[in-house]
Amino acid sequence: MGADRTDMHETYNYTVVRQFAVMTIVWGIVGMLVGVVIAAQLAWPALNFDLPWLSYGRLRPLHTNAVIFAFGGCALFATSYYVVQRTCHVRLFCRRLAAFTFWGWQAVIVLAAVTLPLGITQGKEYAELEWPIDLLIAVVWVAYAVVFLGTIARRRVRHIYVANWFFAAFILAVALLHVVNSAVIPVSLWKSYSLYAGVQDAMVQWWYGHNAVGFFLTAGFLGIMYYFVPKQAGRPIYSYRLSIVHFWALVFTYMWAGPHHLHYTALPDWAQSLGMVMSLILLAPSWGGMINGIMTLSGAWEKLRTDPVLRFLIVSVSFYGMSTFEGPMMSIKTVNALSHYTDWTIGHVHSGALGWVAFISLGAMYFLIPRLFDRELYSLRLVEVHFWVSTVGIVLYITSMWVAGIMQGLMWRAVNDDGTLTYSFVESVEAMHPFYVIRFLGGVLFLAGTVVMAWNLWRTVRGARPGEAAIPAPAH
Ligand code: HEM
Ligand code: HEM
Repeated sequence: MGADRTDMHETYNYTVVRQFAVMTIVWGIVGMLVGVVIAAQLAWPALNFDLPWLSYGRLRPLHTNAVIFAFGGCALFATSYYVVQRTCHVRLFCRRLAAFTFWGWQAVIVLAAVTLPLGITQGKEYAELEWPIDLLIAVVWVAYAVVFLGTIARRRVRHIYVANWFFAAFILAVALLHVVNSAVIPVSLWKSYSLYAGVQDAMVQWWYGHNAVGFFLTAGFLGIMYYFVPKQAGRPIYSYRLSIVHFWALVFTYMWAGPHHLHYTALPDWAQSLGMVMSLILLAPSWGGMINGIMTLSGAWEKLRTDPVLRFLIVSVSFYGMSTFEGPMMSIKTVNALSHYTDWTIGHVHSGALGWVAFISLGAMYFLIPRLFDRELYSLRLVEVHFWVSTVGIVLYITSMWVAGIMQGLMWRAVNDDGTLTYSFVESVEAMHPFYVIRFLGGVLFLAGTVVMAWNLWRTVRGARPGEAAIPAPAH
């Protein structure tokens, strides 16, 4: 393969990084498009078209799997493989195994995209895929761990840069979470039952679910922050000591916070309170990381005016700070009594997902793709357009969900003097309609910004190499 021949001549294995980087953009657009479709279905339910495989219940997990594991996953593979090579000064361990992780992960994604619309699911949020796919995930993940840790083991630099600590924690924790939460008894090729029952099942699921947020959607992306923010800003990380404290405090605390997803359930009360306290403590390491990222710019703030790529990275870290303030507040039991089951949770999720996860990934792709293909970025102006269009999209999305969520919570708990409910459930559904339309518009804007990016990067890859003379226009 041509790409492989290029790879042989490169100091580092960029082939697999390029493949994952390109698929980040592809799956990002697919996943967001499904997000826009389900947002439209919530506003206009007729868009389910009475077809089972287009129904909301099947497309919703398709959206979450596509954006988290396909888009986010490819971004994490691409960046971790790039960063570990650059910071360890050594080629990626075992080229074939690295190639296997790419093709294996794409196979998982395609299997998910086929089985979820067909209604094949374990019904556990963020762990819907049936047991044969779970087995494939486990094999790919072990290969990923071997490639990543093998590269670190062969490093030429004694020191292990902090970004690699975060990537390694993400890889190891996800392996543990996946194996424990996917333990099932298969009854046929596409049907299985959980090994756990009742409240234990719920506890294991949300231990998994919350740490999927903590390690998949946070620790890995903090690895991205610790490499790409200093690189793009041209400055060292604000405090190396803070990054170490941040790392250990974060990985220790996250593991205990899962019960905040199960407030007011059959879970023992002490476990709910423990989850709440650990979630409140989690504010400190989260903000330690956020401050470390943002303060890296101290003395160079003016770069934010001129460098839209840096703006993506820094705004994403600000959203990280915002969602990790909001999360601990929502974990307080009395606040959760209002927010749980409402769109407030959806607003919180997307301030983290769009503002933090997507923005830092897209910022990193703007950094990576021109370098990986040895090209000049086609247009900084289009990056600027992308930034503003998508930022307005996020603001519309999360503000509409906050208003909708708090309104829902208040309507559900309102009671008349005689103790009867003031509103029926369907009245609260009706009241949501305008906000669902605004969220849909926000989603369309966010997606439009990403399409602008795809065009910009396509032109980048097709453009001239830096220093390559442009073909002069014929003289008349
Ligand atoms: C200190 C950090 C954080 C804490 C303590 C926290 C806390 C919470 C709480 C209390 C809920 C609502 C649970 C419920 O009522 O059902 C929640 C939901 C959620 N949060 Fe966070 N959050 C944090 C950061 C983040 C970040 C950075 C993201 C990233 C993208 C995120 C993603 C989610 C998701 C996906 C859910 C929805 C889970 C579900 O029910 O499906 N959180 N979080
Ligand atoms: C164009 C962009 C997007 C749109 C329009 C969109 C829309 C939606 C909609 C309508 C839902 C279902 C809400 C509900 O059930 O009430 C949802 C859920 C979810 N989305 Fe997105 N989304 C987008 C991007 C993303 C991205 C980039 C991520 C992650 C990186 C993400 C992660 C999630 C998660 C984790 C949930 C489940 C939340 C929960 O169960 O509490 N979304 N999204």
